[in-house]
Order: sequence, then structure tokens, then C-alpha cells
Amino acid sequence: MEHTEVMKPQTLDELIQILNKIFESDCVNIEEVQNIMESYESNPQEWMKYAKFDQYRYTRNLVEEGNGKFNLMILCWGEGHGSSIHDHTDSHCFMKMLQGQLKETLFEWPDGKSQGDMVQKSQRILQENEVAYINDTIGLHRVENGSHTECAASLHLYSPPFKTCQTFDQRTGHRNTVKMTFWSKYGERTPFETTVSQENN
Ligand SMILES: [Fe+2]
Repeated sequence: MEHTEVMKPQTLDELIQILNKIFESDCVNIEEVQNIMESYESNPQEWMKYAKFDQYRYTRNLVEEGNGKFNLMILCWGEGHGSSIHDHTDSHCFMKMLQGQLKETLFEWPDGKSQGDMVQKSQRILQENEVAYINDTIGLHRVENGSHTECAASLHLYSPPFKTCQTFDQRTGHRNTVKMTFWSKYGERTPFETTVSQENN
């Protein structure tokens, strides 16, 4: 494992190569992944082909499937776009800022007994090139592009990959299971689905 800790990916392709290597192992070193993702300096020319924005809500764009070990995707956030409060289906979630800023609000899991507002734990602004990490033990979160003039793009790695997650109503703590879809895969717009998709994470 040590050989990967000193590697600094020069390009997005190089970052993907290193991630594929790391995730060959079944035991993931969270700090190592975080450091490597952080050490990649975002270059829009390298990821622009994946970054497809929608006018109405943020989009999920698949970049790499990591031999079934992880999903790497770019989320594109228009002005004011945000996610609902959601969990991460027992997976690791790494989120690196490629462009702009995002606000992350952390919540405690609702205890199932008390009704009313969910408990907010913390809030932070993620800056360009920073990497945030979350899993279900840490809590739940909401991610938002609070800017009304700038869009934002973030690179997300989920391991193991998952297709559904739970969303939570901030006022009541009530939850829903939602299916997640991709707006594009490998730079190609995916066909429209007949059902209304609710996208999260
Ligand atoms: Fe998330």
C-alpha cells in the first residue's frame, strides 16, 4: 500500500488508474484515498466532457466503474441546486470539489421515536480541491450549491457502489427509499427514463 501514498496524480486519468489499483484490495484505507483525491489538482479540460448540467437540478454523471469496486462520478450543481438529506447505503463516500463551492450540512440519524426537526450537527463550505468523507456511522448530510451566480462540480467516489439510498424529511425525520440514476455515462447522455427519477447523494 505504501507505494500509493506518495503518488500524486497529474491528471484525472492518472487518478482513476491509482484508484483502480487501490480498490483491488478489499480493505480500504480512507485516509489514503482522501489524500490521493486531494492531491489531484482539478483541471476542467480533463473532466469537462463528463460535466453535463441541467437547468432544474443537479446531475450525476458516471466516469468510471472501478471493476465493480466503486463508482466514480461527477455531480454538476447549477446555481442554488441542492440534494435532500440522505444516507450512503453502508458505503464509503468521498467527495472532491472540482469547481466552485458546496455547503455540506451534517445531521444525526433520526431516532425513530421523537417527531420534529432533525438534529443538525455541523456545517462547512467545501473549497476547490478539498475532499470530504462521509459514511452512515458519521451521519447523514445535505449538499448544496448556495451560490446564485456560480455553478459547482464535484467528483464523488462510492465504494461499494449502490443504486438506492434513503432520503429524509428535515421537519419530521420520515424517510423514503429512492433509486438513483445517471444523467450521463462516460460522457454520453443516458436515455430519458419513463418514470420520474429522484436523484440523490
Ligand atoms: Fe452524499
